[in-house]
Amino acid sequence: MIIGTGAFVPDEVITNDYLEGLVDTSDDWIKTRTGISERRRAASDAAVSDLAFPASMRALEAAGVAPEELDLIVVATITPDTYCPSAACWLQSRLGAKRAFAFDVNAACSGFVYGLSVADQFIRTGSARRALFVGAEIMTRVVNWEDRATCVLWGDGAGAVVLAPSENGRGILSSHLYSDGSNGETLTVAGGGSRVTPINRETVDRDLHTLKMNGRDTFKFAVRAFTEVCAEALRHNQLTAEEIDLFIPHQANIRIIDAAVKRLNLSKDQVMLTIHKYGNTSSASIPVALDEAVREGRVHPGDTLLLAAFGGGLTWGATVLIL
Ligand code: ACO
Repeated sequence: MIIGTGAFVPDEVITNDYLEGLVDTSDDWIKTRTGISERRRAASDAAVSDLAFPASMRALEAAGVAPEELDLIVVATITPDTYCPSAACWLQSRLGAKRAFAFDVNAACSGFVYGLSVADQFIRTGSARRALFVGAEIMTRVVNWEDRATCVLWGDGAGAVVLAPSENGRGILSSHLYSDGSNGETLTVAGGGSRVTPINRETVDRDLHTLKMNGRDTFKFAVRAFTEVCAEALRHNQLTAEEIDLFIPHQANIRIIDAAVKRLNLSKDQVMLTIHKYGNTSSASIPVALDEAVREGRVHPGDTLLLAAFGGGLTWGATVLIL
């Protein structure tokens, strides 16, 4: 079960007005088509573990757990500090969590629901008693700032949860995870891995190191995947829409969220939204929203939450938990 949450977003605010100065776009287009008014950008010398660290410290403080008590650290990210060591190992070092074993999970924007399930398995089997799980991204580093179709969407941030064995019926009730690698081309960062080698001036000139997305295909996939996997999660737990205290969807596009909310018969006041102020922070979007919901008193221990995400891979999933 989750015994503490924390989040961190960088100070720099990137407004739609600022983006109007970079690409041929408008505040009105961005707000209407995506629901985003502003997003945050990390300092140019910050790495993803620098965002994960304060989020983790806040979650550990809320949980009353010291870093040395951690058995496991998992970070969900597609923008790690380095490919080796993992962002989780960078974070472990910064925290001084010497006993923990640490590794990253890559499921793009579905990272939080995937990683939460992974960390939870170690808790369930007794391999770990205290686990720190963080979704953290610096998406602004993999954005092409000349591509109006993508650069307006992304932001940076980190959200963390501390996990412990379930008590009193609290904890993760079920996770429903899916992938479709055959449609991976929908959303890619082509360069930087072993497929496009060597990394050189040509790969940079061909812009292979920034995110490319077929927005329309992603949109259609997302509405369908969101709705289906949430419906499955509710069915599996014999829950009706009204029994969900808070739905925390991945924050990618307000129109995708609205469509899913309508199809699932949820009401708008059951939905946590941060898209307007942070944009799409990939695997950080759900834990940042969760932490805000906890700190604003929108959710309390014992509440039933539905979390759902979709993203590159393609990947998607939903989790039902009792907070
Ligand atoms: N400003 C102004 N016009 C724009 C912009 C912009 N920023 N971006 C695109 N347009 C234009 C297009 O060029 C197009 O012009 P045209 O009709 O002359 O060709 C027009 O707007 C419509 O383009 P569409 O792509 O059809 O716009 P759409 O309504 O689909 O919105 C968007 C685009 C916002 C990207 C939407 O498709 C979307 O949100 N898709 C899902 C993206 C998503 O959720 N990604 C996250 C995946 S999670 C992960 O793992 C990383």
